[in-house]
Amino acid sequence: MERLMPSEIPAALAASIVNPATYADPPKINAAFAEIRRNYPFAKARVEGFDPFWVASRHADVIAIETQPDIFLNGAGSNNLAPRSSVDMVKAATGENNLIRTLVTVDGAEHKALRKIGFPAFTPKALKALEADIRDIAREYVDRFVENAPHSDFVEDIALNYPLRVVMSLLGVPAEDEPFMLRLTQEIFAADDPDLNRSKTEVTPEQRLAAVSAVMKDLEDYFGKVTKEARERPTEGLNSLIANARIDGEYLTDRQLMGYYIIAATAGHDTTSNTVSSAMWALAERPELLAELQEHPDRIDGFVEESVRWASAVKTFMRTAVEDAEIAGQQVKSGDWIMLSYHSASQDEDVYPDPFTFDITRPRRKQIAFGTGPHACIGQHLARMEMRVLWEELLPRLDSVRLAGEPKLFKSNFVVGPKTLPIEFSVR
Ligand code: HEM
Repeated sequence: MERLMPSEIPAALAASIVNPATYADPPKINAAFAEIRRNYPFAKARVEGFDPFWVASRHADVIAIETQPDIFLNGAGSNNLAPRSSVDMVKAATGENNLIRTLVTVDGAEHKALRKIGFPAFTPKALKALEADIRDIAREYVDRFVENAPHSDFVEDIALNYPLRVVMSLLGVPAEDEPFMLRLTQEIFAADDPDLNRSKTEVTPEQRLAAVSAVMKDLEDYFGKVTKEARERPTEGLNSLIANARIDGEYLTDRQLMGYYIIAATAGHDTTSNTVSSAMWALAERPELLAELQEHPDRIDGFVEESVRWASAVKTFMRTAVEDAEIAGQQVKSGDWIMLSYHSASQDEDVYPDPFTFDITRPRRKQIAFGTGPHACIGQHLARMEMRVLWEELLPRLDSVRLAGEPKLFKSNFVVGPKTLPIEFSVR
């Protein structure tokens, strides 16, 4: 019989999984979630300044919630772990629960219709046609990296820019606009991080929201021009697909259009960057792994898959219940807010034996770091392919690699990975 679990997480522990700084300290965040999985696997967190929320920490519970999309909605509340004050401000500013109206913040028929627009660009077949171009981009970065031996900040030299180039070429954004897109993405995703946010200081929730809104405004200005041009001269790029898409004969509304561009431009590179640098970090600490992958390049797929789990770069999304339901023996009420912890689900001992061992033989079907259900990451095949191609190009040229300093991580409870990864390496 299943043990009756407490329905509330102790206050200090709950506060630690909200605090962006905890996510920048892997042993700390891993220990916090290990304790939550052990003693409070599906329980409520009450944290000052936030509406109370349930925390789904186990693989099975994340799946149970994501596969009941009519009960647990993305758009019926904030789908981000935001403090009450910014949730209220967003509502006042937009009349909706989320700042942007996009795939991850809508549900049901609207979600289905929007997802259908971008979907053709992300199928394995469509991506196969891009592989040679992506390999060219990878080679360019690898050549430059090798030339700069023996030192590199791997984040700066490869992880940050390679995925950006890939996504921007898929979208059809010209190369000269990439630094602008990168800066704006970081200002959104690292809005709490004084090294990267717009004001370069610690921010209050109010300042954070004001800064993110200003970034959105810049993106709207940029994409307003993109829409105009794409309607006059359609191209093959995803941006053009979005600009010219129609639902029931009508172009997307301005809010849908902006949301689509923004998610397409932002969701695909920070996530992949963080995963790629986490993978290099794992490699730098495991000389035997480099030798194994060089000897058995067919194991690179397993390496990519494990690095996606290991990094679990997207930490959280939120859902809101619109009906009463039972999860893990707990009674969830209509209106309740729920955190899906992909970070914790990716370390669930019941699914991943020795979760803190980097093991490239784990079965791919268990991957939860891309989510599951109707909102499962639309870019997952692209992410896997671009990472495989990068390692196929880079690994044969490496003779050795080790850490040359302490890596530093982003402070965020949303998308996290190394901000710097100093390495020393030799080439063949
Ligand atoms: C390793 C890299 C990546 C990780 C870890 C990741 C993770 C995720 C996660 C956890 C979700 C939410 C899933 C859910 O609610 O069930 C998501 C959604 C999404 N991702 Fe990714 N992602 C990655 C790469 C990409 C790439 C390369 C793109 C596109 C260029 C992309 C575009 C999206 C979009 C558009 C959604 C929203 C889908 C929807 O709500 O229907 N992602 N991703």
